[in-house]
Amino acid sequence: MKKNPSNIVLLGFMGCGKTVIGKRLAQMLGYDFVDTDDLVTGYASMSIPHIFEKYGECYFRELEAKAAEEAAQKDQAVIATGGGIIKNKKNIEMLKITGVLVYLKADSEKIYKNTLNDSTRPLLQDGDRMENIQRLLTEREPLYVEYGDFVIDVSPLNVEQGVREILKTLNTKI
Ligand code: S3P
Repeated sequence: MKKNPSNIVLLGFMGCGKTVIGKRLAQMLGYDFVDTDDLVTGYASMSIPHIFEKYGECYFRELEAKAAEEAAQKDQAVIATGGGIIKNKKNIEMLKITGVLVYLKADSEKIYKNTLNDSTRPLLQDGDRMENIQRLLTEREPLYVEYGDFVIDVSPLNVEQGVREILKTLNTKI
């Protein structure tokens, strides 16, 4: 375990709360907040659904890799990552250099509830949403667990409780 990592990197499935928890955590710590999805939309000057629609997922992943590289250069930042960041091991290797990685684990029911009225996530749009969530979660869960330095089960927690749990874990384990 690295001592005094500069950044806190939040990993986890779509809709687990990385952005909302990350923003609050950053505010409490006086850290910057960075979201790799925001970096991607900035590079492309278009929304994520538009990137997927116009150029496809592969191109999105290329931009996401660039975003991981940029985010890893930050100092004292909370970094919320896109749920698929773990698909490319290089992203993780990069983020690990300067950050501690926290997996925010959420069950499929919570994810379903949090993404129900959302149309900004192309991978959940087509077909049955719950089936998509369960399939992708089964595929990705082992990677989140492998890459996370810590796992926090946010399923039963609200945002404030999630933030407190992260702080408690980092304070006692780093
Ligand atoms: C994705 C997650 C999204 C976004 C894109 C792809 C994924 O980010 O990067 O739609 O592959 O899981 P959030 O996890 O912030 O929703």
